Amino acid sequence: MKNRINEIAHFYNNKLTLSTDRIYVFLINFNLFDSNDFIELLSNNEIERAGKMKSSEKEHQFIIARGIIKKILANTLEKEPYQIELLYNQHGKPFINEKYNNYTIEFNISHSGLYGLIAITLDNKVGIDIQKIKPEIDIEALSNRFFSDDERNELLKLAKNKQQDAFYLGWVRKESFIKAIGLGVSYGLDRFSVPLNKKESANVVVSNFENKKWHCFDLMEFRNYKTALTTCANNIDIFISQ
Ligand SMILES: CC(C)(COP(=O)(O)OP(=O)(O)OC[C@H]1O[C@@H](n2cnc3c(N)ncnc32)[C@H](O)[C@@H]1OP(=O)(O)O)[C@@H](O)C(=O)NCCC(=O)NCCS
Repeated sequence: MKNRINEIAHFYNNKLTLSTDRIYVFLINFNLFDSNDFIELLSNNEIERAGKMKSSEKEHQFIIARGIIKKILANTLEKEPYQIELLYNQHGKPFINEKYNNYTIEFNISHSGLYGLIAITLDNKVGIDIQKIKPEIDIEALSNRFFSDDERNELLKLAKNKQQDAFYLGWVRKESFIKAIGLGVSYGLDRFSVPLNKKESANVVVSNFENKKWHCFDLMEFRNYKTALTTCANNIDIFISQ
């Protein structure tokens, strides 16, 4: 197990070469990390926030994801993790003020079930989402609440056994967009539509928000999880470390 952890750990111990046409994506398996190894990297506010999490599982995940993003940013900026101060926009999206070659560093975090995802790039806003598929959820009720009319119609036209997959694909695509623009749910999940199928999966244009085209990419797909990333860059290489 130790070797495996070292192999995994190296991803956040390296200095990244950030660029505007490259997005690094890190998949975190929370079971492979111990939150005690990261707690000292968090600020007092972050430790306080971790202590208020609904469950010890959420607390553990918050500490690990925070610790890893701080390590990545610190290594990349050649600083110490305690020098990395995460700030928040008014909708809760974390950001940092430090520049890299005079560009803004853009990153985003998501967690669900046993896994987390971190995306990091330069200049282009980015949002990432991972969702564990929960077979028991009421797809019709949730799509009534969060999906646009077009999406709902597309979903309900599908055979029942195809609906779950389409719903979750739509969910992660929608979430990654509202996270990329940084407005979160305040933007309104039902006021834009994403395709609920994989035909156009490589690059879906979600919206022209702020006069920019926002492109949504499916990332990895593995048992019981769906993932997506949205950014306002088109020609971009996505490097996935898992
Ligand atoms: C933050 C939000 C945008 C995503 O929350 P989520 O999907 O529950 O959780 P995720 O793990 O994917 O994302 C949480 C992370 O996003 C980041 N985040 C918080 N607010 C954000 C925002 N406005 N924009 C971008 N990122 C944000 C944070 O880093 C947070 O992790 P942290 O608390 O460890 O720092 C939330 O406001 C939201 O969308 N909630 C509604 C979820 C829902 O019911 N969707 C229905 C879809 S059909």
